[in-house]
Amino acid sequence: MTRHLVRIGDLDAEALRRMLARAAAMAGEGAPGLLRDRIVCTAFFEPSTRTRLSFEAAAHRLGADVIGFADAQSTSTRKGESLEDTARVLSGYADLVVLRHFEQGAPARAAAVSGVPVVNAGDGSGEHPTQTLVDLYTMQRHHGELTGLKVAVIGDLRHGRTVHSLVPALRTMGAEVVAVPVGGLELPKPLGPVPRMDLEGAAADCDVLYVTRVQRERLPGRASVAEYRVDADLLERTGSRAIVLHPLPRVDELGTDLDGTPAAKYFEQAQNGVPVRMAVLASLLENA
Ligand code: NCD
Repeated sequence: MTRHLVRIGDLDAEALRRMLARAAAMAGEGAPGLLRDRIVCTAFFEPSTRTRLSFEAAAHRLGADVIGFADAQSTSTRKGESLEDTARVLSGYADLVVLRHFEQGAPARAAAVSGVPVVNAGDGSGEHPTQTLVDLYTMQRHHGELTGLKVAVIGDLRHGRTVHSLVPALRTMGAEVVAVPVGGLELPKPLGPVPRMDLEGAAADCDVLYVTRVQRERLPGRASVAEYRVDADLLERTGSRAIVLHPLPRVDELGTDLDGTPAAKYFEQAQNGVPVRMAVLASLLENA
């Protein structure tokens, strides 16, 4: 197991498989008291609901204590403290630091100076590796196998960090990925060539529709992006048999008319954040 979890590439196929199996065990019998006397710090420099609270719930379920902040305005960053200094100090208080930051690359910089494991909980338009573990876990629960699965990633693929971690992980696990970018917001080049499809084609053809929102906060000055919407009508029209995932929060790209239908797995996906993050905390802290 790696010491830090900064990018999804830190986990090879075997490590991904082990993590998913461990998450299933956490969802089953759990591991009460496993992290008793350990302290987990959640340092969130950007808004979050699911990621922070599911990490904190995961820590509590394992018996760990939690410290941290959800609003960097209340920290010394406001006084001009560098990320490196903050990371050094936090690693003296806690046994593991979960970091979300608006700057791409911040978790790698923190990991370079931290004396304890650092987990990337989303860095700007960079990556979001624990969300990918949640996504893979949810796909595996419904499809059994990741190998051979056909997954469409839909939305703002340029800025969506969840997709930046998900695409390489799906490849590692032998799944097939197709891209449905909107408004010219294509996958970054380093992610390699990914075949493109339109929304109708993807709905008709894929096993999983992974819908993401336009990351408006990362699109300064851009008034509007082409509209796209995954909803009950699209699935019906195309005879789709796909399950629908979304890292949430949704805006208009995912119809509420899907909620409660058998295709909609996004609320279950959010809930899977707890056992998956229990597995991440346990794996990293075991050897720390
Ligand atoms: C995502 C994120 O923060 O990147 N949310 C999450 O962690 N579930 C997706 C998003 O904000 O669009």
